[in-house]
Amino acid sequence: DRFLAAIAAMPATTPPPARTQDRTLPPAPAPRGTFDNAPDTDPSLAANRAWGDGIRARMAGSRLGIETAEAGVVRDAAQLDALVAETVEAGATWRALGAEARAEILHRAGDVLERRRADLLEVMGAECGKVLEQGDPEVSEAIDFAHWYAEQGIAIARIPGATPAPVGLTVVTPPWNFPVAIPAGSTLAALAAGSPVVVKPARQARRSGAVMVEALWEAGVPRDVLRYVQLGEQSLGSHLVGHAAVERVILTGGYETAERFRAIRPDLPLLAETSGKNAIVVTPSADLDLAARDVAASAFGHAGQKCSAASLVILVGSVATSKRFRRQLVDAVRSMPIGMPWEATSKVGPLIGPAEGKLLGALTTLEPGERWVLEPERLDDAGALWRPGIREGVQPGSPLHLTEYFGPVLGIMTAATLDEAIALVDAIEYGLTSGIHALDEDEVQRWLAGVQAGNLYVNRGTTGAIVRRQPFGGWKRAAVGAGTKAGGPSYLVGLTDWEDAPTST
Ligand code: ALA
Repeated sequence: DRFLAAIAAMPATTPPPARTQDRTLPPAPAPRGTFDNAPDTDPSLAANRAWGDGIRARMAGSRLGIETAEAGVVRDAAQLDALVAETVEAGATWRALGAEARAEILHRAGDVLERRRADLLEVMGAECGKVLEQGDPEVSEAIDFAHWYAEQGIAIARIPGATPAPVGLTVVTPPWNFPVAIPAGSTLAALAAGSPVVVKPARQARRSGAVMVEALWEAGVPRDVLRYVQLGEQSLGSHLVGHAAVERVILTGGYETAERFRAIRPDLPLLAETSGKNAIVVTPSADLDLAARDVAASAFGHAGQKCSAASLVILVGSVATSKRFRRQLVDAVRSMPIGMPWEATSKVGPLIGPAEGKLLGALTTLEPGERWVLEPERLDDAGALWRPGIREGVQPGSPLHLTEYFGPVLGIMTAATLDEAIALVDAIEYGLTSGIHALDEDEVQRWLAGVQAGNLYVNRGTTGAIVRRQPFGGWKRAAVGAGTKAGGPSYLVGLTDWEDAPTST
């Protein structure tokens, strides 16, 4: 809360991105088009400034979601038990409605989310620091989930020879970093399968989750079938997850949280996407301009606060030994304006809280053999805005090779061959996303065959999976439980009991 107060007290404009301290590289050009640098005499830039001020005022005064978030606070176990019982009971009507009628409501939910796009951008910016460039595709993803799961609900109901039944009460515990798309996706999937849902948005994203839930209510999902909760006490989390009436928990969060849930209830039917430590391999056959752009965006979009973010780039052969790619990468990162969500040009937004613990360590301390290619810098008193950091000389087995930091720091590793690079990727315990930039088909095929990660991306960044086209989910420690992929054709199978096994796929 102190951090939020500090953010609220920040001046209307933020400092321009600072220059790199690496003197071997030319100084960054002054960023163009940020509100700081826009001369008032240029009418188009003045218009931009006015627009930015409008967004700032709207975010600063935003009250969206507060009422629902406050009304959703559950104070004790008895209240939670009553809520669970009522939700289970209401679930029978939702199930009886049938897949087609449910799909109609969920399609309508997609339309309401579209209509409330500006509200969702406002609340995500105000509450979680989501910049418009990141928030806009996030709203689109939530809308895609609505239409996709609506169709999937019908599709599984029509599989010949099988009678899919909803599993029953599903608890959704999403993270704060995708405060709309992830809770929306999990919730819509469970609803499409015919189950009632209790959604408990992350504390830092309670209002964003509330606006999303309001949209679904407005579309016609009954309020007693879809419950919004915040827990007044931490111990209630264990009570909810351990509740005998809960048939599924969909968790997106840290691996340790999944372990904790399992400890509370060893037989817990869990669908969990948990943590990522993701690398992009760049080979000599790559289009280096494209690779630099994609690595920069994957590493520093949303300030690196994504499970899918690239936090390592592994340079192979001549890409490793020449300075060219490093220069292109630094240029690409410098061209990403750093700023608050109300500045329409911002690409690297604020951290959700001040950098501390291991993230602060990664932004301030080098390990043996490492050197800054781009030195990170704190740009405001609150510690919200950071110029991103890039470290090279990252050693196999070192912290930056293996640990998820969830912030604006990227490590560069080198490998003599593609096989070495693949071995470096596979040494990482968390296999969520992985990327390669290579135009040589043989290299791509070898990489595809060798790398263990849920989502493999070729000549593209590692973030921003698109519903249906890139079903999203992890491998190894990045997935726990029934690890089917969100936004894909099998996700509802994990939310359904099959009275007869499906005979075809
Ligand atoms: N689904 C999100 C992404 O792909 C996490 O970046």
